[in-house]
Amino acid sequence: MSPSSIVTAAPPPATTQPAARATTQARATARPRPAARPRATTRAAAARSAEVEAELRLDPRSFRVLTGDRPTGPLHLGHYFGTLQNRVRLQDLGADVLVLVADYQVITDRDTGGALPDHVLGLVADNLAVGLDPGRATIFAHSQVGALNQLMLPFLSLLSVAEVGRNPTVKEEFAATGGQAMSALMFTYPVHQAADILACRANLVPVGQDQLPHVELTRTVARRFNERYSPQRPFFQPPDALLGAVPLLPGLDGQKMSKSRGNAIPLSATETETARLIRGARTDALRHISYDPSGRPAVAGLVLLAAMCQRRAPAAVAEEIGSGGAARLKAIVTDAVNEHLRPVRARRRELAADRGYLQAVLRRGNDQAAALAEDTLDSVRKLMRMTY
Ligand code: TRP
Repeated sequence: MSPSSIVTAAPPPATTQPAARATTQARATARPRPAARPRATTRAAAARSAEVEAELRLDPRSFRVLTGDRPTGPLHLGHYFGTLQNRVRLQDLGADVLVLVADYQVITDRDTGGALPDHVLGLVADNLAVGLDPGRATIFAHSQVGALNQLMLPFLSLLSVAEVGRNPTVKEEFAATGGQAMSALMFTYPVHQAADILACRANLVPVGQDQLPHVELTRTVARRFNERYSPQRPFFQPPDALLGAVPLLPGLDGQKMSKSRGNAIPLSATETETARLIRGARTDALRHISYDPSGRPAVAGLVLLAAMCQRRAPAAVAEEIGSGGAARLKAIVTDAVNEHLRPVRARRRELAADRGYLQAVLRRGNDQAAALAEDTLDSVRKLMRMTY
């Protein structure tokens, strides 16, 4: 696919809801990806992640971690088990953790319709509720850190259009929208993500498999910048990806948990809402409950959810339910989720009631990130001889 064929149409004007919705829908109904066949790069990243874990235990303070989410709505249990708990773990190990609220990534494919402030502060509340400590970690938003965004310009100059067009996530997005109305910001967002990472001079990026190409691109940008502008003394350290060790939690229909599929349990759901969502979960006709992720993905997803909440082995949970059937399974999952999340949800309710506090945490994080990014941009300008 040639890059010129990727950007085929103008992005939707910011106010046309239908176009924005069509894009989101295309995402939601995109065919699920084939079960991950670990590619060489994934295997290499997994091996490197194991090494990094060992280094983390020896010298956590040598790591600066950047993770982030797009503020498109409340985070769900997939985020909680997949990334949020890991952030808190890294923080508690002693690494310097930065969490990005990636508001500029939201407008890659949709009109925000004025919902951004609530979603942004909701993300701050989600992160704090699970245990991120604003005294140690930094939470900040793209749009408030000018120097970060400026870094994207020199970075774009280090890459060819063809290279950016080969990014698998960008290609998938192009396919999911049928080639209609992919914005130029969507096309360049992996480069923006490289700016996120390098502006903060993060050396560790916890990600899912789908984000590995972005970290690879970031490494390329770092190396090329060093070669071109600082060959004697490399300025940017190419970051490592840290792949999660926990099994991926499927949604209530056995497919990948995602808000757009409507199969997610939000972290912020009440206990009654949680019960209702789980009651509506897909199961199958077999009465005897077993843990068989490939043969019975929907049932296995529910068993795994209870197991993760109770910190038990999924097979043990399944065995205990035995011939209790789907009703018993759902009752157990509901109790497990609600019990496990009770303190997190209580804390989140308190936080959500104090908008001023959430704003203060974010502003402080923005200031800290801005100081970092300005320092990086200063050095970059000096190395590029852009000081007049
Ligand atoms: N693209 C990431 C996601 O969709 C969010 C993100 C933006 C991010 N910038 C980042 C993650 C930098 C890690 C590092 O989840």
